[in-house]
Amino acid sequence: MVGIVLAAFAFGAQAADIAKGGQAYATHCATCHGANGTPVMPGAPNFRRLDSLMRPDMQLLTAIRNGKGAMPAYFGVLRDREILDVIAYLRTLS
Ligand code: HEC
Repeated sequence: MVGIVLAAFAFGAQAADIAKGGQAYATHCATCHGANGTPVMPGAPNFRRLDSLMRPDMQLLTAIRNGKGAMPAYFGVLRDREILDVIAYLRTLS
């Protein structure tokens, strides 16, 4: 677990790729979170509101990796690197 966290920090040191993040978002996330961050599914946060993402990347990464409520876990589906790209993309939506 510590190794995973340290690896995530090491990845975080690289610049995230917003374009790749946008593609992964369209494929994996837009069905519930909407094409441009306005949620389609009730209960999903609205990414167009800045306060929905007022948390460190690592905390969002953990929620996406493990799943939360009605959201599936993306561990094994997306690499941490890819999830961080998606988070960078999310931060462009508000
Ligand atoms: C099946 C629908 C669904 C899909 C697909 C989905 N989400 Fe979610 N997501 C939700 C719901 C519902 C919540 C609210 C969970 C809660 O707070 O109970 C949520 C919450 C979140 C949160 C906030 C987590 C937190 O700590 O509050 C983030 C960030 C997020 N989703 C990102 C993503 C990303 C990135 C993807 C694609 C890789 C994705 N979601 C795919 C439904 C979905």
